[in-house]
Amino acid sequence: MQITMIGAGYVGLTTGTCLANMGHDVCCYDIDSRRITRLERFDLPIYEPGLENAMRRAVEVGHLRFSSKIRTSVSEADAVFIAVGTPSAPTGGIDLTHVFSAARQIAPHLKRGAVIVIKSTVVVGTAQRVREMIARERGAFDIRVASNPEFLREGSAMRDFAEPDRIVLGADDARSRRLLRSIYGTFEKIGIPMVVTSTGNAELIKYAANAFLAMKIGFINDVADLCEKAGGDIADVTRGIGLDHRIGDSFLQPGPGFGGSCFPKDTRAFAATGRQYGAPQKLIETLIARNDQRKTALARRIVKEARLAPGSKVTVLGLAFKANTDDVREAAALSIIPFLREAGMHVTVHDPKAAFNARAHLSDVTWSDCPYKACKDAAAVVFLTEWEEYRALDLGRLAKTLSGDFLFDYRNLFEPRTVARHGLRYASLGRSTIFTRQRADVSSLETWPRQIAAPGHI
Ligand code: UDX
Ligand code: UDX
Repeated sequence: MQITMIGAGYVGLTTGTCLANMGHDVCCYDIDSRRITRLERFDLPIYEPGLENAMRRAVEVGHLRFSSKIRTSVSEADAVFIAVGTPSAPTGGIDLTHVFSAARQIAPHLKRGAVIVIKSTVVVGTAQRVREMIARERGAFDIRVASNPEFLREGSAMRDFAEPDRIVLGADDARSRRLLRSIYGTFEKIGIPMVVTSTGNAELIKYAANAFLAMKIGFINDVADLCEKAGGDIADVTRGIGLDHRIGDSFLQPGPGFGGSCFPKDTRAFAATGRQYGAPQKLIETLIARNDQRKTALARRIVKEARLAPGSKVTVLGLAFKANTDDVREAAALSIIPFLREAGMHVTVHDPKAAFNARAHLSDVTWSDCPYKACKDAAAVVFLTEWEEYRALDLGRLAKTLSGDFLFDYRNLFEPRTVARHGLRYASLGRSTIFTRQRADVSSLETWPRQIAAPGHI
């Protein structure tokens, strides 16, 4: 099948490449011609593990090409996916400008009977609005519009595409339903559940799924806070609840507040849709506020708990909103670092992949290309992204470079005992802070966990 992807960003590029590797003929279009020139040289504008090799394979066998010319990109296509960004609007809803402008651009060039498939995350009713818009532009209702939301996590998008839990196919007519089914026929044959439904339901499914997943994270973050105060251990608590199949053990990892291009934006849009339709989503409204507060609370905790005076050096390791991506959209680092700067700290930062993107958002920080060098003479170190290379750091070596001794681990990368063994004071999430008063004083470790802070201490 001839497929065109409008928007060669995180979602469009990954989806286009995977569809090409399934045997479809795919053209990835982007309005940004420099992006297309780079893609033709396999100079990827985003970091996504496995994507480059998959792209090379698909291009070599002639199933994938790139273009910034709209007419030739779409004129022969049976299906045109729209995968442009849908950023937050000031009201909390989403800004559909890119989706509508993409629809307008493609409208005059589509062949009769082509189907537009909306991949971008859009509020309920958008597919129908796009259908009407296209009909106005063409003077005929000869183009169908379907909805096929994505559930790809950055960092594991290739695997998520290949091993989906389900595929949601939203169509309001038989032709689009048939077309969607044939695009994903290979998956249906191997028994992947297909949720075939209306476009409105597909749009609602995407938001409800992301809101629910975000709620799991928000919930476990609150439980982690309670564990800290009550002297509990979040790892045991999550294992204890996650083994209940009704709950499940995924998305229960406490962190510095969820970020990324989806959860913050999608929860806001879901809440705004609820308000618009008179069906308030109070749980989600609270979740949004709690998640924002969490980032500030964890920033304040660094200054307070390590008793940092203005002018102290703090090193932040990890700028990406999670590991294995270079994306910093709504990353905790972008809230926590400005707070530290305002509190008068000198901040040095490091990230293995996201430093380039973070430069557009962070000023007045020192950039480092090595975590050990970044930590030199720091009063405190803060981990915000769960990169494997941070987990593998030699804490003994790190401890020797510091001027202070406080390690804030907002991703629970280390075992408290291991950190304490290096004479570092350690604050992680959902586990009580360990105070080792003197460096290299490991004798008292045998008595841990009695040594943990008493309730109310933190
Ligand atoms: C996607 C989704 O589509 C969004 O709705 C979802 O919530 C998050 O994931 P993403 O792939 O992250 O967005 O967007 P981005 O990486 O910003 O890429 C969008 C691309 O579309 C850009 O390369 C941009 O140049 C291109 N674009 C934008 C067009 O080709 N045409 C336009 O009219 C607008
Ligand atoms: C999300 C959805 O998971 C995916 O289905 C798609 O709709 C796009 O949006 P993505 O934003 O790439 O994917 O990453 P995800 O792995 O969902 O993480 C989002 C945020 O939640 C990150 O900041 C991450 O660190 C945080 N998170 C995730 C936690 O804090 N704990 C967890 O257990 C899982």
